Amino acid sequence: KNLSLVLAPFSGGQGKGGVEDGPEYLLEHGIEKHLKSLGWSTTISDPLKDDDLAAQKSDLSDVSGKCKRPKMVGQATKKIYAAVKEAAHKGDIPVTLGGDHSIAMGTIAGTLDKHPDACVLWIDAHGDINTPSTSDSGNIHGMPVSFLMGMEPEACPPDLKWVPNCIAANKIAYIGLRDVDAEEKKILKDHNISAFSMYHVDKYGISKVVEMALDKINPNRDCPIHLSYDVDAIDPLYVPATGTPVRGGLTLREGLFIAEEVAETGLLCALDVVEVNPALAAHDVHVLDTVSAGVSIAKCALGETLL
Ligand code: ARG
Ligand code: MN
Ligand code: MN
Ligand code: MN
Repeated sequence: KNLSLVLAPFSGGQGKGGVEDGPEYLLEHGIEKHLKSLGWSTTISDPLKDDDLAAQKSDLSDVSGKCKRPKMVGQATKKIYAAVKEAAHKGDIPVTLGGDHSIAMGTIAGTLDKHPDACVLWIDAHGDINTPSTSDSGNIHGMPVSFLMGMEPEACPPDLKWVPNCIAANKIAYIGLRDVDAEEKKILKDHNISAFSMYHVDKYGISKVVEMALDKINPNRDCPIHLSYDVDAIDPLYVPATGTPVRGGLTLREGLFIAEEVAETGLLCALDVVEVNPALAAHDVHVLDTVSAGVSIAKCALGETLL
């Protein structure tokens, strides 16, 4: 079976530079070779290759209400959507290398086009479910889930109108949360969305938490799983080079265990590895730690076992 490695060197969903270099670092660290050694064939798709993203990012007129760079994000995520959708329809597993988490609008929309019954496991320190009106930062990487759920359609910037309302509230679960904005907490509660924070990980253990999360969104274990993995879910001790680090996170092993458990179901249909930002490392060891954690997440999700 083939993996389509979709490169998403995109940073327009937030303000910091460097996260656009994530795909290059993951490739240099041998992600493709490692996945091949697990028995997969691979192809590479580079949907943003013709875009002058640096020029787009510096266009200060690209604003809609509170949203920063909606046009840039809308156009790029639409191309990522097309690439993921094409790969999924071919029967490949799309593995999208970010880039900031706004790209999940493209990847998840692409997955749902092929697999309307898919569920989403969102691994993150953050909820990424702000709406244009609740966001304090205006950064769209903090909003992708709200757009995918079709919340606040009246405030949707024109360039994001293409994003299909494709995730139902009972088809997404979070693990790793510890920095959720007050209004996001209200949204999670009002929509009755399954959300497991670090409190739940401490209380029940990671194994039970993964089981409970899948019981909520995939009770019969018969729906394809889209794993959208923000590396900031893992503690900055292990994954320091990321744009919005939050202390008190998953250990590296807990983080990899989640991916191993998803692999164990045999239901993985798509993977995102996002928010690797080599430019934010204090020194080379931080770069290596972060990039190799990203590669390990992909290996574990795609079948690597310790024994
Ligand atoms: N909640 C904050 C915001 O909306 C932080 C979001 C961080 N998101 C991420 N993908 N790292 O701006
Ligand atoms: Mn995050
Ligand atoms: Mn707020
Ligand atoms: Mn995120």
